[in-house]
Formats: sequence, C-alpha cells, structure tokens
Amino acid sequence: MTSPLDQYLVFGNPIAHSKSPLIHRIFADQTAQALNYQKYLAPVDGFENSVRRFMAEGGKGANVTVPFKLEAFALCDSLSQRAKCAGAVNTLRFLDGVIEGDNTDGAGLVRDIVVNAGFSLKDKRVLLLGAGGASRGALQPLLMQNPKELVIANRTLAKAQELVQLASSFEVIHTVCIAASWEQIVGQFDLVINATSSSLQGEALPISGTVFGENCLAYDMMYDAQLTPFLAFAKKAGAQVRDGLGMLIEQAAEAFYLWRGVRPETTNVFKQLREGAI
Ligand code: ATR
Repeated sequence: MTSPLDQYLVFGNPIAHSKSPLIHRIFADQTAQALNYQKYLAPVDGFENSVRRFMAEGGKGANVTVPFKLEAFALCDSLSQRAKCAGAVNTLRFLDGVIEGDNTDGAGLVRDIVVNAGFSLKDKRVLLLGAGGASRGALQPLLMQNPKELVIANRTLAKAQELVQLASSFEVIHTVCIAASWEQIVGQFDLVINATSSSLQGEALPISGTVFGENCLAYDMMYDAQLTPFLAFAKKAGAQVRDGLGMLIEQAAEAFYLWRGVRPETTNVFKQLREGAI
C-alpha cells in the first residue's frame, strides 16, 4: 500500500497565476518526497479560517502570498527571527496544532544574487529602491551580507526613514544605512535592487542612470517575459541585469527545505521556467 501524500497549499488572492505548485512538484519529484502542493484562492476576509481548516484536515504547511503575508504574521504561534525582522510571513509549518511562521523571501533574494549570480555583497554599495513589504523582507538578509553601505530610497521619504530606523534594531549591523528620496541618491552603486511595485504598473523609476557603477548588477524583484522598465533602463545605462525569477525559485526552495529537511536543486527549474518549457 502507498502511504498518503503530505498536503501543502499556497494561499493567495488572486492565485491563478502562481507558479509555486509547479515549482514544488518539481522539487518533490527530484528529491523523492511524498507530497502534494496545490494553490488555494482564499477569500479576502477568510484567510485565517482557510488556514485553520486546512491545518485541522491534516495539512503540513503552506505558503502565503499577496495579500495575506501580514495576516499570516499575526496568526502564527511562533515566528522565526527573519519573519520578525520582515514583519511578514510567507511560509507556515503546522506542528501538532501549532502554527510556526517564517519568511524565506529575503533569503531567496540573497541566495539568487550571491550564489546564482555569483555576486558578493561584502563591502559593496547597495541601493534598495522602495520601502514597502518587499524591501522590509529583504533588509535583514541583505545586511547580513555586510555591504559597506545600504541606501534605501523611496518615493515617500518617511517610509525609507522608518526602514533605516528598523535596521538599527537588527543585531547584524556593520553597514552604514541611509534613507533618501529619489533626488537625494548620491554616487554610484555596485548593486541596485528594485523592490517597488513600479514594474507591475509598467512604470520606470525617476532615478538617474549615473547610479549604476562599473560592473553594477541591477536586480528587479519582479519578473516578466520581457525586461521590466527598470531593467531596460539599467541595461541602457550599462548595468548587468537580473529579474526576480531566481528569487521566486529560491524562496520556494528555502520553504521546501524548512518543511522537508532536504534542499532541492534549483538550476534546472530556473532554466525550464525561463525557457517557458514548463
Ligand atoms: P510590496 O509588499 O510589494 O512592497 P507595498 O508595501 O505596497 O508593496 O510597497 C510598494 C512600494 O513600491 C512602496 O515603496 C511604494 O512607494 P511609496 O511608499 O511612496 O508608496 C513603491 N511604489 C509603488 N509604485 C511606485 C511607483 N510608480 N513609483 C515609485 N515607487 C512606487
């Protein structure tokens, strides 16, 4: 007799576009893990009920995406350090009726930059564009790489200032951390990350092309079949460019590792998704 599969879901609204089930099924095949992973459209006002029902039915864990990451943070019984720093949860693990929350987004970003792109952040100047949830999630993992300086620039300066304030409460600071408005960004950077939702709106950002230093990597957390407006601008200014497909896959791999204790190989998944083969 075959043993029943462990059940996992990704909760979101909307969720139809999610590639997470595809990615996790490939990971499961590759590592011979007996699990099933599906997407679940949770009602906007019914996230907590949906999670608790799934847990009561024997679900083992879940991913959480837009717009539920803050609600997920609020409903957890325990939180990892990186979830606390991010103030949001994208990965849930259910253990004997207890909900554990983690956030693998920032770790996924850093792994994609450092391991996959082979780009060390140590002693580099980093420009983080945006001060919403995506930036906050990236903040502590980026600082742990010991860049020389991290400038957080945002349309609304007060929100960038809040993030700098938050950064000073982390235990891992060796980095000068500065808030700036678009006009206040000074000098050239080794890494420029777009964590705003501007690319979703098809808009470029009002930054100068001079921010991209020599051998600069421009990274957009969004991804698309074409270059995002930010990456098109960066490329024209001479930067190397990379979109958020790798981050998506690496945050999934990190969640898979939390649940199953095995780290899946990601290179092939990246290649297949990039080529539109799956
Ligand atoms: P997310 O969880 O994706 O980070 P969010 O918390 O709503 O979403 O944050 C969106 C971020 O993108 C914010 O930094 C926002 O800037 P403001 O704080 O000024 O609102 C930024 N953003 C969104 N659209 C933008 C645009 N067209 N140009 C520049 N910044 C934009």
